[in-house]
Amino acid sequence: MSGPNQQYDPVEVAALDPEEIERHVHEALTAITQVGDLEEFKAVRQAHAGDRSPLALANREIGALPPSAKAEAGKRVGAARGRVNQALKQRQAELEALRDERILTEEALDVTVVAPYRQWGARHPVSLVTERVQDIFVGMGWEIADGPEVEAEWFNFDALNFAPDHPARQMQDTFFVAPADSGLVLRTHTSPVQARTLLHRDSSRLQRDLPVYVAVPGRVYRTDELDATHTPVFHQVEGLAVDKGLTMAHLKGTLDHLARALFGPDARTRLRPSYFPFTEPSAEMDLWFPGKKGGPGWIEWGGCGMVNRNVLSACGVDPDVYSGFAFGMGIDRTIMLRNGVSDMHDIVEGDARFSAQFGMEI
Ligand code: DAH
Repeated sequence: MSGPNQQYDPVEVAALDPEEIERHVHEALTAITQVGDLEEFKAVRQAHAGDRSPLALANREIGALPPSAKAEAGKRVGAARGRVNQALKQRQAELEALRDERILTEEALDVTVVAPYRQWGARHPVSLVTERVQDIFVGMGWEIADGPEVEAEWFNFDALNFAPDHPARQMQDTFFVAPADSGLVLRTHTSPVQARTLLHRDSSRLQRDLPVYVAVPGRVYRTDELDATHTPVFHQVEGLAVDKGLTMAHLKGTLDHLARALFGPDARTRLRPSYFPFTEPSAEMDLWFPGKKGGPGWIEWGGCGMVNRNVLSACGVDPDVYSGFAFGMGIDRTIMLRNGVSDMHDIVEGDARFSAQFGMEI
């Protein structure tokens, strides 16, 4: 701001020179007419009407004028700023109208367009059959148990009476967990939960008393290639009963009940001698059911047997007092048999269009 200017001298206060003011107004109006969008508009407003614009600065100079000159100068600057503000207001309204029009065209929605079909999810048949199997066992008064999928080799093999060099270890092509001496595998079957159950290793539970009746559904892993009948990740359900006086007749009765509950009243099972290290005697279990492709017939369904005395001993159960039976079968395989699924890919891929065919109950 200039110093006191006792004798009004418009030359000394150059900012208040009428021509100078007219020039600022002209510049402002030109800029305002040329501004193309609201973003630029802000800058133009700042430059020509902001606190540091030439007209605002001129306005401040009025204070330095002698009282006699203040009124006239104030009028002139006020009129000039009024014209600029008026032009700004008008241009802003125009620019806002243009923006609204643009948004209305660019963001227009055709509400008559047919919406793309959204596929609903569906429960997977493995989940459905697993729940059905659980219900069947709970209906018989059994408990449901589970165990980890990354399992100690000891539970997966040793506790189940697989000797360290026993060829049966190779029967189950195992994914080992790195490093090589981790002692961990991806469990190759649900049978390790037999030992876990008897040793009540699950710290979240109270000690499980004998007798024990547990069913264990779960995911298992083997180094198989995915093809129409194999998958490296599949599902089994394990059964274990340990009580006084259990015999193979109890095993057979349980399996027949399970078969009928899953495959209808005409289904039944038969046992063929076999070998598993953790059962003695051991058997392959075949299922007879009416719906087999090409008519009714027998088909292999799982393995079973009387719990080997060594397994009972390893788990601290006296084999002279208690006996037990155990069995295990594939859940995926059960679905393939029961529901006529001929390609494992359908079960693995998880396409909701496949799963939806099973509905919510199976
Ligand atoms: N764990 C066996 C497997 O995956 C199946 C099996 C056989 C389970 C005999 C059992 C059993 O409980 O007693 O091939």
